[in-house]
Amino acid sequence: MSKCECKLDVDLGERSYPIYIGAGIYADADYYREHVGGSQVMIVTNETIAPLYLDETAEALSGYEVKSCVLPDGEEYKTLDVLNRIYTALLKGRFSRRSTLIALGGGVIGDMTGFAAATYQRGVDFIQVPTTLLSQVDSSVGGKTGVNHLMGKNMIGAFYQPRLVLADTSTLNTLDDRQLSSGLAEVIKYGLIIDAEFFTWLEKNMDALLARDPVALAYAIQRSCRCKADVVEADEKESGQRALLNLGHTFGHAIETGMGYGEWLHGEAVATGMCMAADMSRRQGWLSAQSCDRIYRLIEQARLPIVPPKALTSERFIELMAVDKKVVDGRLRLVLLKEIGSSLVTDEFEMHNLTETLSQYGS
Ligand code: NAD
Ligand code: GLY
Repeated sequence: MSKCECKLDVDLGERSYPIYIGAGIYADADYYREHVGGSQVMIVTNETIAPLYLDETAEALSGYEVKSCVLPDGEEYKTLDVLNRIYTALLKGRFSRRSTLIALGGGVIGDMTGFAAATYQRGVDFIQVPTTLLSQVDSSVGGKTGVNHLMGKNMIGAFYQPRLVLADTSTLNTLDDRQLSSGLAEVIKYGLIIDAEFFTWLEKNMDALLARDPVALAYAIQRSCRCKADVVEADEKESGQRALLNLGHTFGHAIETGMGYGEWLHGEAVATGMCMAADMSRRQGWLSAQSCDRIYRLIEQARLPIVPPKALTSERFIELMAVDKKVVDGRLRLVLLKEIGSSLVTDEFEMHNLTETLSQYGS
């Protein structure tokens, strides 16, 4: 196990698991061995990732009965219909309850494979092998799994933890620049919600991250995973503080759903959503104008959008935001900022601040 640069543990009692971060680890049999229980393994991936990484992953699992299920690529395929293809492949291959599913891909593959694992024969093991920056710093950790509905993002799903996460930094070499930036949105999110020191580090190191400096990337992934694991350990099923991880997501999900899945990347929508949350926090009198500017600057530096699409009117935003999972008893709750590194989930905001934030973009 020489290639691992860092091991973190997600401590959730009997559902605990390790996260390994390093270059070349996805193709190393040693990492899988102690986490694959039965003899059958189904690798779920998509048609973009399969030619790049499927053979070597299957090779690393060569002692097992290995099959693969290759799905179409795209957020628009994160649906119940496409999920059904995974169940069909498992049934055709006579996979038993002792099987292990391997999610080889970005957040779409990870979320769908995790949900298939949670529900196939009432639950089988699964392993996350995230291959995008976004999935390495966020979606592969914490056990949120699921699919989209035409009326709302991630509306069908389950909390279901993986047995192991293998975040292989070498896979990021084939990722395009737009996807790298999309992942950086979730990295910036951790600085904003709980880690002001990390935000400052990001201000100094954003250019190195964009240039894919391996040391800077490995550090950002480690620190992000630690932030996420801490929050998840304290509130696995989002009865409270875990909702902080959704900074910018209520606005962002409205953008993704409203524009049609796949049009805006998840991280792009979250980045703009974080700017909108910052603007609203400033209007609330919580966040200083100077901090707000620092947030816009860092997000722009990461080559991410800071204003929402003109096509979405304020009225449409409000309509879409009403479907958010943070709506409780008809009241919209938002993640807002007190300062950089300090956030809260609240329904106690002035409604006019929300409408002013939405209408200032001229939509
Ligand atoms: P994605 O899974 O769509 O991957 C982005 C693109 O990159 C795809 O075209 C994919 O085929 C390609 N790709 C993946 N790895 C590659 C590689 N190494 N080289 C070249 N191309 C590669 O998108 P994403 O940004 O990884 O994930 C977004 C999804 O994650 C959304 O559906 C979002 O809702 C979900 N998400 C879930 C959680 C969670 O906690 N479960 C958290 C954040 C986001
Ligand atoms: N990405 C939000 C969460 O995992 O809770």
